[in-house]
Amino acid sequence: MCRSTYSPCIILLCITLIQVPNFATSLSNAFQERDRVALQAFKLMITQYPEGVLNSWNDSHHFCDWEGITCSPRHRRVTVLDLKSKGLIGSLSPQIGNLSFLREIHLSNNTIQGKIPGEIGRLFRLEALYLSHNSLVGEIPGNLSYCSRLIGLYLGRNKLEGSIPSEFVSLYNLKELAIQENNLTGGIPHFLGNITSLEAISLAYNSLGGNIPSSLGQLKELKSLGLGGTIPPSIYNLSLLANFSVPENRLHGSLPPSLGLTLSNLQLFQISNNFFSGSFPLAFSNASNLQSLEILGNNFFGKLSVNFGDMKSLAYLNVAINNLGSGESDEMSFIHSLANCSNLSFLNLVANQFKGALPHSIGNLSSQLDRLFIGGNQFLEAYLRK
Ligand SMILES: *[C@@H]1O[C@H](CO)[C@@H](O)[C@H](O)[C@H]1NC(C)=O
Ligand SMILES: *[C@@H]1O[C@H](CO)[C@@H](O)[C@H](O)[C@H]1NC(C)=O
Ligand SMILES: *[C@@H]1O[C@H](CO)[C@@H](O)[C@H](O)[C@H]1NC(C)=O
Ligand SMILES: *[C@@H]1O[C@H](CO)[C@@H](O)[C@H](O)[C@H]1NC(C)=O
Ligand SMILES: *[C@@H]1O[C@H](CO)[C@@H](O)[C@H](O)[C@H]1NC(C)=O
Ligand SMILES: *[C@@H]1O[C@H](CO)[C@@H](O)[C@H](O)[C@H]1NC(C)=O
Ligand SMILES: *[C@@H]1O[C@H](CO)[C@@H](O)[C@H](O)[C@H]1NC(C)=O
Ligand SMILES: *[C@@H]1O[C@H](CO)[C@@H](O)[C@H](O)[C@H]1NC(C)=O
Ligand SMILES: *[C@@H]1O[C@H](CO)[C@@H](O)[C@H](O)[C@H]1NC(C)=O
Ligand SMILES: *[C@@H]1O[C@H](CO)[C@@H](O)[C@H](O)[C@H]1NC(C)=O
Ligand SMILES: *[C@@H]1O[C@H](CO)[C@@H](O)[C@H](O)[C@H]1NC(C)=O
Ligand SMILES: *[C@@H]1O[C@H](CO)[C@@H](O)[C@H](O)[C@H]1NC(C)=O
Repeated sequence: MCRSTYSPCIILLCITLIQVPNFATSLSNAFQERDRVALQAFKLMITQYPEGVLNSWNDSHHFCDWEGITCSPRHRRVTVLDLKSKGLIGSLSPQIGNLSFLREIHLSNNTIQGKIPGEIGRLFRLEALYLSHNSLVGEIPGNLSYCSRLIGLYLGRNKLEGSIPSEFVSLYNLKELAIQENNLTGGIPHFLGNITSLEAISLAYNSLGGNIPSSLGQLKELKSLGLGGTIPPSIYNLSLLANFSVPENRLHGSLPPSLGLTLSNLQLFQISNNFFSGSFPLAFSNASNLQSLEILGNNFFGKLSVNFGDMKSLAYLNVAINNLGSGESDEMSFIHSLANCSNLSFLNLVANQFKGALPHSIGNLSSQLDRLFIGGNQFLEAYLRK
């Protein structure tokens, strides 16, 4: 369990304090002093703060008034440490684990180096840990699993390695796990499917390898998924899924024919630069909330028969560098339906096998359209013949 452990000298101090009249106040002062010492230790390991953000961290004021610090009103203990995007350079002091009232740590977008201290596991009240976009190295400490109230864990865009700690299975309140853009290995663990509170998983751009475990199909609350591996069919059944993003992940296989039906909340579908093949599912016509469809750089072939007419929010459509096209005379009729997408701003059909006549309705595409790429096909010739 998550327990704060107090050093013998603190206990001794507490016993001494029993002598003084206002015991509660003195005890509270002792804990505040522990917070102050921990914050000073934190500052000591931040070697540069170009925006001067830590200048206010001096003893002329109570630490609750220091920049980036929020305290609980009653106990005057640190509950939020927020120094995101402050240009901090340095590393994390293990003493951060002494700030036992901390609920949120916001340190994203700095240059924090070194390892994530396992002492963070002592912060049993922690709900959100934002460390993304830093230069953290080493393994993700399994000790973070002691933070059983954790709702959001954001470690993306660092240089972390090793595998996703198996201890994380006990993080039963976790809703968002974002550890993309690191150098993690060891596969996507099956146990992630047991953390049924998960709503968003982002694991893309790692070296995880292996398959996506079918257990992820148990995550009925999942709204956003970004990862690598081979996609098991159960994933495509998740009806709340809005954002499906698996670019550049060496994925292969074909998409199940019913995809658009089961993913009725789909907003982003990004699978560019993989090895997907087969025909592109007709059922996509039902994904009426789609905003972005990116299938660039795969091996889809045959007629693109999707009707885009119900996708009123579609803004970005990129099907370039596939083998789409059947040679049937009406194969470009999907262009008619695109005329309904009044927000369409990007359309790329480059380098496919489209041969059919390019319909006149291409002139009726959205007035928002600012990029249109159609080269590397054979339909212009066919059109001119008409
Ligand atoms: C100490 O912090 C206060 C603001 O809390 C600031 O006005 C003052 O300049 C700081 N002192 C030093 C020596 O940086
Ligand atoms: C990152 O922090 C810098 C300041 O250090 C800021 O200029 C930049 O906008 C921040 N980037 C993001 C994505 O927040
Ligand atoms: C704070 O944490 C450090 C390292 O985790 C520990 O050695 C130290 O005893 C703690 N200090 C206090 C005052 O509790
Ligand atoms: C890991 O967390 C436990 C429980 O909070 C704590 O007792 C222990 O000191 C932590 N380990 C390290 C290496 O900080
Ligand atoms: C990732 O880890 C592998 C194996 O440890 C290493 O060869 C590779 O250079 C690392 N890549 C990055 C981007 O750090
Ligand atoms: C995950 O849940 C399954 C049952 O749903 C159970 O058999 C398995 O042991 C659990 N895995 C872990 C790592 O707890
Ligand atoms: C999906 O992506 C869109 C566009 O980036 C974003 O507005 C939306 O919040 C995302 N939805 C979820 C559930 O992550
Ligand atoms: C997907 O859902 C359908 C209909 O509910 C069901 O028949 C099918 O077995 C499910 N597939 C997977 C792989 O879970
Ligand atoms: C779209 O969904 C409806 C049911 O809601 C279904 O009857 C129809 O076949 C689907 N269209 C496609 C193209 O799959
Ligand atoms: C375009 O939208 C209208 C009205 O929303 C709809 O009736 C029509 O079927 C759509 N066109 C196509 C090609 O889907
Ligand atoms: C079109 O785009 C604008 C601006 O991004 C947005 O406010 C509007 O809701 C979009 N319309 C649809 C139908 O999605
Ligand atoms: C383009 O739109 C206009 C006005 O809505 C319509 O009259 C015309 O038939 C459309 N042209 C094509 C080729 O769809």
